[in-house]
Amino acid sequence: MVKIGNISLPEFPLLLAPMEDVSDPPFRAVCKDNGADMMFSEFISSEGLIRDAIKSRQKLDFEEEERPFGIQIFGGDEEALGMSAKICETVNPDLVDINFGCPVKKVAMKGAGAGVLKDIDLMVRLTESVVKSTSLPVTVKTRLGWDDNTRNIEEVAERLQDIGIKALSIHGRTRMQMYKGEADWTLIGKVKNNPRINIPIFGNGDIDSPEKAVEYKNRYGVDGIMIGRAAIGYPWIFNEIKHFVKTGEHLAPPTVEQRVEVCRKHLHKSYKWKGPKVGIFEMRRHYANYLKGLPNIKEYRSKLVTMMTVEEIDAVLDEIVTKFAGFEFEPSKIELINYHEKCPVN
Ligand SMILES: Cc1cc2nc3c(=O)[nH]c(=O)nc-3n(C[C@H](O)[C@H](O)[C@H](O)COP(=O)(O)O)c2cc1C
Repeated sequence: MVKIGNISLPEFPLLLAPMEDVSDPPFRAVCKDNGADMMFSEFISSEGLIRDAIKSRQKLDFEEEERPFGIQIFGGDEEALGMSAKICETVNPDLVDINFGCPVKKVAMKGAGAGVLKDIDLMVRLTESVVKSTSLPVTVKTRLGWDDNTRNIEEVAERLQDIGIKALSIHGRTRMQMYKGEADWTLIGKVKNNPRINIPIFGNGDIDSPEKAVEYKNRYGVDGIMIGRAAIGYPWIFNEIKHFVKTGEHLAPPTVEQRVEVCRKHLHKSYKWKGPKVGIFEMRRHYANYLKGLPNIKEYRSKLVTMMTVEEIDAVLDEIVTKFAGFEFEPSKIELINYHEKCPVN
């Protein structure tokens, strides 16, 4: 069992990574159904929370079934970050996570997110301010360092543990790498195997298959893995990894009925949570992923991304199930998009 403060997670937990514009309540619901052990909100600006900005406040929403659930905040000002942690407390999440990893210019260049990686003393002060402001467990998500010359995660881990964080998630890239190249887990393994470190260390970056998850688990000894892009349109990745860790065997790929059922749940939750217009519109980016692997699906996809009512979309989803009933999917080959170019937050 892995403990984050008073939160108990199963052995080798799989965490859904916080993802702006992706890991909202509808998406989290389908990840939870399919094996995610712990989930986080999208990152929330501390200044936005304090100003009571609608967008920031809305990101605090979560459902009881999502627990254990963490709210992720970011900011470069000690007082504001501490105050925003207090605001998070009002909705009673299980923990508060601080983002020191966002590489996006508008965040990092303002001295927040990965920008803090340039100034470890500031990172420590910011974290301390949050730890002192809340009685909830505080965790941190960060990268290896700012650039190749400052890969200081080993020092960071020790100093943040010393001031009271309860777990650390590490994305195996520097800020300067953005999403380029391959994530390097060597330093993540070093942090985990440092005898001074006793908080859980979660590895993150490029996990896209059960094989890779098990290989990295064994090679780097991390307490658990955080998964981001691979879960987009393929939330089955969590249970597939769990099954492979336990048995060394692969689960059968989800059938067309299962894919459509999950896609439908995502759509309906989206509709309910975001309202008809935004719910339907924002769901459009997910259909291609859910339907990947089906032959000649373009015609259906075009309909799904132009229809304006849930009833019409449901009818097309029914048609897809009928047309492809019994279709045998190849074992999934997940493609990790280079979000440096495509990510909505860049
Ligand atoms: C669309 C998108 C949005 C993201 N937003 C956040 C965020 O809000 N907070 C955060 O800590 N990381 C964010 N990330 C980074 C992911 O949490 C994760 O660290 C990164 O994608 C690497 O993991 P992966 O290879 O499993 O995707 C985002 C990534 C993507 C692709």
